[in-house]
Amino acid sequence: AKKVLSGIQPSGSLTLGNYIGAIKNFVKLQKEYECYFMVVDLHAITVAQDPAALRENSESVAALYLAAGIDPSIAHVYMQSHVPQHAELGWILTTLTAMGELERMTQFKDKSAGKESVGAGLFVYPSLMAADILVYNADLVPVGEDQKQHLELTRDLAGRFNHRFGDFFTVPEPYIPEVGARIMSLDDGTKKMSKSDPNPGSRIGLLDPPDVIRKKISRATTDSGREVIFDPAAKPEISNLMSIYAECSGMSLQQIADKYEGQMYGGFKKELAEVVVALLEPIQQRYQDIRSSGMLSDILAQGAESARISAARTLEGVKERMGFLPTR
Ligand code: TYM
Repeated sequence: AKKVLSGIQPSGSLTLGNYIGAIKNFVKLQKEYECYFMVVDLHAITVAQDPAALRENSESVAALYLAAGIDPSIAHVYMQSHVPQHAELGWILTTLTAMGELERMTQFKDKSAGKESVGAGLFVYPSLMAADILVYNADLVPVGEDQKQHLELTRDLAGRFNHRFGDFFTVPEPYIPEVGARIMSLDDGTKKMSKSDPNPGSRIGLLDPPDVIRKKISRATTDSGREVIFDPAAKPEISNLMSIYAECSGMSLQQIADKYEGQMYGGFKKELAEVVVALLEPIQQRYQDIRSSGMLSDILAQGAESARISAARTLEGVKERMGFLPTR
């Protein structure tokens, strides 16, 4: 079976952007492919994390995976740090990566801009991400638009290894949705919605209570026009809200434009809030059940155990090809 891998950082509470750009597709792909969905805690520590917060966010992301519909009996669900081969292959791929390639990464440029001290982990982060993917020879990687450049580097590294040491790694393809690959912030249609934005009003949290969701959407920035039409260049905020509507309801952008033709933003926003609440309420209910059931640690242990078997096999092949002595 073809393999799918993806991960989300436990670096804050997940947003509707994470759901639409990533988790929704995880759920869709799990029936067709052998899937690896991890919580990438080793990536999260590339910026300082408070230990208690890291623990809480790690459990929260794992529980949200399940609450959103990922089925641990068919997909591998686990913590990145529970499979040591990620870090090991990460180091090896770092040695195959050029400084210039990492310097060109826009996420690194954004995250390091204006900082007087930038951790080396933030710099080599994309090599670890490449290892995440290549360690299972994943074919397909469902991600949002912002990860595209990291995927390109992963493909380059796979090709470089294959060229130097003989054909070995699968060169993975990104799986990026057409609508919803880049959900924008609610207060600025030119910025992406982010779990680390200092303004909580800029994002819808997957765990936000219904009334908070209603309030955030009613306060979302819009242009001074009045037509609900999809035009990302001229009307970035309304276009973004329409994308959210489409992704949460299953309607097409055209159907939404038709439905709200001649209506004002107020009514559209009110109904959008109800569409989002209807999507998130059952997920939140299941989330609470999962968190209180105590079943998470067993599921994560099983997921890691099966993932380790496949990752260890890859590492053996990598080391043998590169000239490392076998352990016996
Ligand atoms: P992270 O944790 O920033 O985001 C997790 C996933 O959510 C997507 N996403 C969005 N999609 C649409 N609109 C948005 N506003 C939005 N914000 C986030 C991201 O594109 C991502 O798919 N480096 C990765 C984590 C990672 C990974 C991997 C992903 C580590 N190893 C291996 C795939 C494969 C990251 O920081 O995602």
